[in-house]
Amino acid sequence: MARRGPTFVCQSCGAVYGRWQGKCDACGAWNSLAEEAAEAPLPAAGAVRAAGRVKGRIFALEGLKGDSREAPRVASGIGELDRVTGGGFVHGSVILIGGDPGIGKSTLLMQACAALARRGLRVAYISGEEAVAQVRLRAERLGLADAPVELAAETNVEDIVATLSQGATPRLAVIDSIQTMWTGTVEAAPGTVTQVRGSAQSLIRFAKTSGTAIILVGHVTKDGQIAGPRVVEHMVDAVVSFEGDSGHHFRILRAVKNRFGPTDEIGVFEMTGRGLSEVPNPSALFLAGRDLSAPGTAVFAGMEGTRPLLVEIQALVAPTSLGTPRRAVVGWDPARLSMVLAVLEAHGGLKLGMHDVYLNVAGGLRIAEPAADLAAAAALVSSLAGVPLSPETVHFGEIGLSGAIRPVAQAPARLKEAAKLGFARAVAPPTAREPGDAPPLALAGVGHITDLVAAIAA
Ligand code: TYD
Ligand code: MG
Repeated sequence: MARRGPTFVCQSCGAVYGRWQGKCDACGAWNSLAEEAAEAPLPAAGAVRAAGRVKGRIFALEGLKGDSREAPRVASGIGELDRVTGGGFVHGSVILIGGDPGIGKSTLLMQACAALARRGLRVAYISGEEAVAQVRLRAERLGLADAPVELAAETNVEDIVATLSQGATPRLAVIDSIQTMWTGTVEAAPGTVTQVRGSAQSLIRFAKTSGTAIILVGHVTKDGQIAGPRVVEHMVDAVVSFEGDSGHHFRILRAVKNRFGPTDEIGVFEMTGRGLSEVPNPSALFLAGRDLSAPGTAVFAGMEGTRPLLVEIQALVAPTSLGTPRRAVVGWDPARLSMVLAVLEAHGGLKLGMHDVYLNVAGGLRIAEPAADLAAAAALVSSLAGVPLSPETVHFGEIGLSGAIRPVAQAPARLKEAAKLGFARAVAPPTAREPGDAPPLALAGVGHITDLVAAIAA
């Protein structure tokens, strides 16, 4: 039989070592190894067979057809939340929701629970962090105190499963948070990776057998990872992150992984005095309060999943007092900024070597699309030239290393959204207009970066 001595488990990624070492080889974290008792070994396959239990029944794929044409779901009725989950919580699925402390995870989930409970469904909210009185106080503040949500303050997974198994099957159970849970099946202190993984395993097993959808709340470390149980991310059906910065009222719910829906949708919420409210038209919110006459701001017509989203990109290009000029970027990929700057220098004739460059996506949004290249370039050129861009113009297009402006996906949706919000003109790749199609606003096609520079700086 294998030796069962103590093992050392990286508390950041879950890698297991036979002896202590200063750095985790798997994730590179320093001083993250902690001693934990080894997990109980699984019974040998032979023993199971000897006991006469037949395991591993085989099913025909086609025979399952009638069961699951569309995964059975229950929608929360909170549109922005349902958009991210792909239409609601799938029966028996497990969702992990991560986010900074205080971002509003507990608030959002209490609102979702109350919405389901008010429709007569059995819903449980298990808090391992707050007492029942505190949870109820929050519900009162949210105006949800009358919703028949079952509350419990409990951290032992066996007790939770026993409670949930009594009576009708709950449609939804929220576990807030997975880091506070512990299970008697593993010998490790609560909060360690082994405990978190063991607890998650038990809860996932309960979800699959009972059909209850479970939401696990996970804390996030400084660098945005769900703390400790990276392993849990692989075990659950969906991973959702709740983001936003403390300086802004709005919060973005983003699917990182989803076995039952899209991963590129976002849900936008605003934190108000009475909880989170949905923002059905986020473009208007992200463009609110922009300075129309300042040089260095360009409006980007972006897409988040199937939804067009207009945001303001701000650039500041200023002479440097340092030997090496500064490049700082918030909300966009620094590597793409370097690339756009290089193309502007090589093909646009701009001299940026003696300038600090700052780029910011207004409102705390994070953009991942290459289609933002053209808007970023326009903001940079505008700031360097000191010429404000027309406030009625939107931009989108990918910039190639040759300086050519490349077409991007979903141009018609972007143009439509811009027209809806009152924009009159779009600077975009010439191909954004389909032949024979009348765009909803004037289209200024730019084929090369030199055209953009000439149009702004001329
Ligand atoms: P919370 O849901 O407890 O965050 P998390 O569970 O992610 O740690 O939200 C806490 C913050 O939200 C807190 O700073 C206060 C704020 N808040 C409001 O602004 N309005 C409200 O109605 C509620 C309930 C909280
Ligand atoms: Mg909380």
